[in-house]
Amino acid sequence: MQKKKILILLGPPGAGKGTLSALCAKKFGWKHVATGNLCRQEMQDKTELGLQMEALILAGKLVPDEIIVQMVENWLQERQDLVEGVIFDGIPRTVHQAKFIAKMLHEKFLEFEPLIIQLQVQKDALLYRILSRLICSNKECQTVYSLHAFVDKQQDEYRCEICGSVLQQRSDDTKEALEKRLDDYYQYEKDVLHYYKEHNVQVYQIDANQPVDKVFENLEKITTS
Ligand code: AP5
Repeated sequence: MQKKKILILLGPPGAGKGTLSALCAKKFGWKHVATGNLCRQEMQDKTELGLQMEALILAGKLVPDEIIVQMVENWLQERQDLVEGVIFDGIPRTVHQAKFIAKMLHEKFLEFEPLIIQLQVQKDALLYRILSRLICSNKECQTVYSLHAFVDKQQDEYRCEICGSVLQQRSDDTKEALEKRLDDYYQYEKDVLHYYKEHNVQVYQIDANQPVDKVFENLEKITTS
C-alpha cells in the first residue's frame, strides 16, 4: 500500500504551486494549505493580522515568520481530515519555516512520507504567467485560471467554470510587486536549499517550463515511485 504523503512545493511566484496543488487535491484527495491564501483570507476579513500584512504583501515583501507559522498551526489544529495526504504550498520560504516544517513532520506526521519538490521555471515565463493570472473571487473556490486559456480575451468580465463567480486579478500581481517577490524568493530559496542539503534531505527538481499536464505527470511519477 502507498504511504500517505506530505507534499512540500517550493517554487517562485507563478511556478504553478497552486495549480498543481489543486490537481493533487482533486486526483488524490490530499488537503491543500497555501500560506498565500491564508494571508489573503486575513486581508479579506480585515482582521488585525490582515491589516498588518496588507502593506507587506502589496509591496511584494515576505510576511514575518512567526505569523506564517501561527497561521499554519491554526490550520492544522482545525483539520481532522488529513487522512490521505497534505500539500504545503508556499511554505517554507525561509530557514526558520523549514525548521518549523521539520519539527511538525517529526511531531505530527511520522506515518507520512515527506516529498520536497522544487519547481524550476525561467523568469520571463513567470512574469507572463503572473500578469495574466485570474483567480475566482469566491473564497471557497479560488480556482486559478490564465487569461490565455480564454478564446475571447476582450470580455469585460470572466467567470469561474466551477462556481460561476467573477474572476479577478490578485492585488499583488503587478509588475513592481512581482519583481520584489522574485528577488526575495531567489535569495531565500538559496538558504532553504542549503538547509536541506546540510540535513541530507532530498529535494526533487521538476522542470516546470512545460505545460501543466506534463508537469503534473512528472510530479505524479515522483509521488508514486
Ligand atoms: P503566494 O500566494 O504563496 O504567492 P507566490 O509564491 O508568489 O506564488 P503564486 O501564488 O503567485 O504562484 P503559484 O506558484 O501558486 O502559481 P499558480 O499555480 O497560481 O504568496 C503571496 C504573498 O504572501 C507573498 O508575496 C508573501 O508576501 C506572502 N507569503 C505567502 N507565504 C509566505 C511565507 N511562507 N512566508 C512569508 N510570506 C509569505 O500559477 C500562476 C499562473 O500560471 C496561473 O495563471 C496558471 O494558470 C499559470 N500556470 C501554472 N502552471 C503553468 C504551466 N506549467 N504552464 C503555463 N501556465 C501555467
